[in-house]
Amino acid sequence: MTDPTTPAAPSLATPYRTHTAGQLRASDAGSTARLAGWVHRRRDHGQLIFLDVRDRHGITQVVIDKTESPAAHEQASRVRNEFVIMATGQVAARLPGTENAKLPTGAIELRAAELRILSESNTPPFYINEPDATVDESLRLKYRYLDIRREPMARRLMLRSRMVQAIREVHHANGFVEVETPTLIKSTPEGARDFIVPSRLQPGSVYALPQSPQQLKQLLMVAGIDRYFQIARCYRDEDLRGDRQPEFTQLDIEMSFVDEATVMAFVEGMAKQVSNATAPERTILHDPFPVLTFEEALERFGSDKPDIRFGMELIDLAPALRGPDGEPNSGFAVFDGALAAGGRVKAIMAPGMGGITRREIDELTERARRFGAKGLAYLALGPGDEIRSPIAKFLSEETRRALIALTGAAEGDLILIVADKHELTADVLGRLRVELGDRLGLADPDVLAYVWVHRFPMYQWDAEGGRWDATHNPFSGVLPEDEPLLVTSSGDPAKPSPDDPAGRAHALQYDLALNGWELGGGSIRIHRHDLLQRSFLLQGQTLEGMHDKFGAVLEAFEFGAPPHGGIALGIDRWAALLAKQTNIREVMAFPKTQSGGDLMLDAPSAPEPGQYAELGLRFVGIEDKKKPATGPAQ
Ligand code: AMO
Ligand code: AMP
Repeated sequence: MTDPTTPAAPSLATPYRTHTAGQLRASDAGSTARLAGWVHRRRDHGQLIFLDVRDRHGITQVVIDKTESPAAHEQASRVRNEFVIMATGQVAARLPGTENAKLPTGAIELRAAELRILSESNTPPFYINEPDATVDESLRLKYRYLDIRREPMARRLMLRSRMVQAIREVHHANGFVEVETPTLIKSTPEGARDFIVPSRLQPGSVYALPQSPQQLKQLLMVAGIDRYFQIARCYRDEDLRGDRQPEFTQLDIEMSFVDEATVMAFVEGMAKQVSNATAPERTILHDPFPVLTFEEALERFGSDKPDIRFGMELIDLAPALRGPDGEPNSGFAVFDGALAAGGRVKAIMAPGMGGITRREIDELTERARRFGAKGLAYLALGPGDEIRSPIAKFLSEETRRALIALTGAAEGDLILIVADKHELTADVLGRLRVELGDRLGLADPDVLAYVWVHRFPMYQWDAEGGRWDATHNPFSGVLPEDEPLLVTSSGDPAKPSPDDPAGRAHALQYDLALNGWELGGGSIRIHRHDLLQRSFLLQGQTLEGMHDKFGAVLEAFEFGAPPHGGIALGIDRWAALLAKQTNIREVMAFPKTQSGGDLMLDAPSAPEPGQYAELGLRFVGIEDKKKPATGPAQ
């Protein structure tokens, strides 16, 4: 293991070591050195004992020769894997033919004159010296400190550290101030549930842990900080996925006197520098990053976080399904019905998958159904004019030809079709596209395909609540030309309805996607009090309600708020993508399990008995299964 953050670093010398275990080279032969570290592997050849000594920086072979140093040999014969030892001796060039080209220290060995056992170790629950061994993840999480001793985890944490270092450097070089905001605050809604912390000094009251520092960073703009950033810990009580943890880290940014283009340009430059500093071997596929509108992203890729490392774009089949009068007349009732109802019929074309088996098609159809589709139609183009398709019989020769021509499919290719409402068609085909792209190996794992998506709809109609919900952030600004749309059709701003012009307004909101993941999102905020009020009313918020939730920001906006905007990028997601991981747990030192638990610390756990009284707490109707009832739990 090599650590590029500490190349040949004599400053790491301490009384326990003159060098790290990754440092000695052929040029050191003949000098005296002392190493300290863990025994990675031990080979006993009787008179000679070989110990591979490991620390975060690398591995060095230590040789103990019974005839040269009997006392050290005696110690070495007691040593087992993962003991912590200190060895002092002479650095010697290895005999010709015994060098290890795989190790940076492989040209030398340390011939120990003295060996001291600093700490013993039980037999670890899994191999630490075999980086490729698969280990059950719950075991890795329970013994995370041993997992981090293994090369892959240590390497990923070092990558993450380099990444955060680069982030700080770029921000400082661009006039940003790093400000820490508190984590015992009031609810900052970002669409998830809050974690709450009961207050001892004010019984009956709780703090909320921040879902993001959103309001605080906006207050810092009113405070005149001008350019703020923070490596901010956030908490969201939501269901876990590969790219989600209840506790995670954002690179949180806010800037004053900026427009959308200013924020995007800074973030883009920063992202390139951070990528290059962290994973220089990865190619950034598009420079500048492509910018898609939300509508275009949905239309072409069926996703607002498109993986643009490969094509296989969604194809609109309507031109092949409508007659000269523009009316749907494909002959297949499902397609014609969808078009007549204002829906869409779209396809993706999977090159070379024409030989797909019936079973595989059934699996794909099942998958599509789970994503919400009513069915999945297909045309598999065999050799000659052979077409396997359950719907071909409904289509005229001409329609079939036109449809195939639209998709660009040729012999041996597969066309998959979904007919439904616009969003659903996009979503189902977007997901199938990613799966098939994966199956066909279309996405180059070595490249980084950043892409901006912007111009999101400002609101989404909430039929149950009878109001417009902000699609992202309740403070998101509106596209200047759409500002007149922030009205209700009834004329009463407090009476929103689904046909309000507001439904057509676009937000000054932008997301950054990377290789199919949402990496970050942000917006230019509404800083004008009057516009904010209008937007909040459309969102079904009363003035009192607004003040209850966002009182501090609303009041601050009465004291001179600069135009401002910002973004937050998921640090865990970014590190995972740069480290080619598919789960953010792999770049977090101590992540939580699927059920939100910490297997190592055994958290969450029941409060200490005294804490119930102190905090005025009582759990009602919850049985503590793990521990005998403590305190007045039932
Ligand atoms: P948003 O909610 O989009 O925006 O979050 C920004 C980014 O944070 C990351 N993220 C997560 N990462 C891991 N686990 C989670 N549970 C999780 N939730 C979010 C994602 C996401 O893109 N305040 C706004 C930003 C702004 O408008 O400036 C916000 O929090 O990478
Ligand atoms: P049916 O006539 O309902 O048996 O469907 C014939 C074929 O069309 C089957 O392969 C279905 O999976 C497919 N199908 C049904 N509904 C849809 C739809 N909404 N979009 C795409 N294909 C569909």
